Amino acid sequence: MRSDTVTLPTEAMRRAMAEAEVGDDVLDGDPTMRELEERVAGLLGAADALWTPTGSMANLIALMSRLGRGDSFLAPQGAHVLDFELGTAAWLAGGMPRPLPHDAGPGKVTASAVRRAAADDGFYASLRPVLLCLENTHNSAGGTVTAPEEHASVAAAARAARLSVHLDGARLWNAAVALGVPPGALTVGADTVAVCLSKGLGAPVGSVVAGSAEFVEYARRLRKMLG
Ligand SMILES: Cc1ncc(COP(=O)(O)O)c(C=O)c1O
Repeated sequence: MRSDTVTLPTEAMRRAMAEAEVGDDVLDGDPTMRELEERVAGLLGAADALWTPTGSMANLIALMSRLGRGDSFLAPQGAHVLDFELGTAAWLAGGMPRPLPHDAGPGKVTASAVRRAAADDGFYASLRPVLLCLENTHNSAGGTVTAPEEHASVAAAARAARLSVHLDGARLWNAAVALGVPPGALTVGADTVAVCLSKGLGAPVGSVVAGSAEFVEYARRLRKMLG
């Protein structure tokens, strides 16, 4: 296997694509796209969701919705947003990355490490930590899976420290299958969640970013800004 991104659509998927009801997603909406977004939002336990062409754009939109210049964001070392998105979190979203060591096992960080890193010293010249970006499964750590209770405790620590939480769930489906839990059990405490349709699922392209209705309204504007 070269990569789970190389999977191809099945016959049934090709048929569904060919026969899909099609509208205009830029103007008054595409009913099939809306159905997909609503279905994914439901699976993730989010109010709404927005399709994006790539997982990198889904992450970037979530980060752009929260980060500004002078802000920093935390993420476990080796996270896709840190190492494989060309630094767009910094130069497009404006947040300085702060990698956290895997002190809770491969791909994982402890709640206490998040609490320590989230401490804002209040000094005007210091970066302000505003967001924690988790990744489940954590790709570069070997596809490691974070269980619901581990995720929830780290997310709760971040929220208690006034950080927003974004979950890069490019392969959240795999984590859910490995753990035998619904995907929504792995998103507790996350403000935004990105999932990929193009990894292992056979879709030729596409990701979805989910969150509150207000987030998705803004995310649609951000997606337009990005082209
Ligand atoms: C963990 C993770 N997040 C995000 C992405 C980005 O997805 P895309 O290649 O669709 O931009 C990937 C791609 O491999 C990934 O592994």
